[in-house]
Amino acid sequence: MVDFRDTREWLDRAREMGELAVIKGAETKYEIGTLAQLSGRNQGPAVVLQEIKGYPADFRILTNMMANIKCLNLTLGLPIDKSLRDTIETLAKGMIAGWENKSKDYPPTMVDSGPILENVVEGDDIDLNIFPVPTWHELDGGPYIGTADSVITRDPDTGVVNAGTYRGQLHDRNSVGMMVTHGHHGYIHRQKYFAKGERCPVVMVFGVDPLLWTLSTTSISPDISELNYAGAIRGEPIPVIKGRVTGLPIPANAEIAIEGYAEPGVTRKEGRFGEWQGYYAGGVTDQPFVKASTLYYRNAPILTGAPPAKGAYNPYGLARSTWRSAHVWNEIVAAGVPGVKGVWLPPCGGSWYLQIVSIEQRYGGHATHAGHAVAHSRSGAFSARYTIVVDDDVNPYDLEDVMWAVCTRSLPTDADIIKKGWGSHSEPLFRRTSAAPVDSTPPRAIVYAVKPYEWRNEFAPVNLASEEMRKQAFAKWKDAFNGRLQII
Ligand SMILES: Cc1cc2nc3c(=O)[nH]c(=O)nc-3n(C[C@H](O)[C@H](O)[C@H](O)COP(=O)(O)O)c2cc1C
Repeated sequence: MVDFRDTREWLDRAREMGELAVIKGAETKYEIGTLAQLSGRNQGPAVVLQEIKGYPADFRILTNMMANIKCLNLTLGLPIDKSLRDTIETLAKGMIAGWENKSKDYPPTMVDSGPILENVVEGDDIDLNIFPVPTWHELDGGPYIGTADSVITRDPDTGVVNAGTYRGQLHDRNSVGMMVTHGHHGYIHRQKYFAKGERCPVVMVFGVDPLLWTLSTTSISPDISELNYAGAIRGEPIPVIKGRVTGLPIPANAEIAIEGYAEPGVTRKEGRFGEWQGYYAGGVTDQPFVKASTLYYRNAPILTGAPPAKGAYNPYGLARSTWRSAHVWNEIVAAGVPGVKGVWLPPCGGSWYLQIVSIEQRYGGHATHAGHAVAHSRSGAFSARYTIVVDDDVNPYDLEDVMWAVCTRSLPTDADIIKKGWGSHSEPLFRRTSAAPVDSTPPRAIVYAVKPYEWRNEFAPVNLASEEMRKQAFAKWKDAFNGRLQII
């Protein structure tokens, strides 16, 4: 059951669980970003920053909301102590399909009032510099107000409202960049307006409740609004107010929101920014931006943040890996791959570059079927580099175990090489020869770290003590090791 209505109530729950670090007096330039990385690498607690240098004491930042599995479980309304494996399996097997089906029954409810209306500023009076906006990484092109944001747009053809997390550079007192990758729903909506020569209405929310936020980072069917989806998970509709200028829905309990328009053909230099691959590879490009016509914020506002970072330093890496693994699992089962025992897209690959699937092999070619299905599933097709198929006696969530299988059950010559895959504009191995962004199409490999199906029963037995023996020995002798035995 989801036990919070907004970011503040989520904070209370995290505090009660002992999953909240309070930092006073930090600096917006680099220091907050560095703390986010350190806590992220340690799968640490959520971090709330207050009394930020140079800003009102009660203007806060909340980052690392879901850097460990307990905080992600809290957000999803699952039992807090569910393991990573169980959370992925629960999401994959039941909840994703159930929530999607229920979404149509939970359109948001339009309300007249809400905390987001505590402060409303219009036109030239807007100054987004009142908020403590971090410059997260040392080589960023400026402060980014949008990292853990929900950018709300409406499809002009279907009327479906989308909420997506797209980064937003704070250009000046009332302009925020809108950097959306081609193919994402916000990009498609914006293009539809631009193609007609019209401006695109946009609401950028900084600090929606963590459930709606995590859904904004997740690929949901374009026919379903994340606002409905969040309502379906909660079992009650999300209250929204009507944006004064755009008419778009704005979550009534959110912390900070701006509404305005992105104009066709009008861009500003955007970047560079420390991206999810762990580099500043995307460089500086010309991107549309939103000029704010209305600013809404709560008293003592909380700006939420999720700065991308290299591998396991990424504070949102674990949560993103969990969601995306569940999606890929769900999709390959729907595509007819049997015997799937686990899927893991670990944070070291930013949940994209490395894909691991474990199967109980049932027929010759099953590993090939599974590997190719993962590599070209809806959620796995973009920016994959290595797909590794392992047997069901290998723990896909333990990279040590996976690499043992790669070393002992695969030959490099057996890998399938796909010559041209769907790549990212910020692909670090893509050499930029001009300022214009060009689609990259890097190759990818599928590695079969499985016992050869034809003679799997003759494969040499593994010399690890049986699970039963290990559990017995652990129970009998663990006290002699002063708590140093963790892994069974
Ligand atoms: C912290 C974070 C930052 C992100 N930044 C961007 C971004 O700047 N641009 C973008 O297109 N996608 C970005 N994404 C990925 C999208 O949020 C994600 O793919 C989402 O599914 C897009 O929503 P949509 O499918 O409704 O377009 C980011 C994700 C996270 C978790």
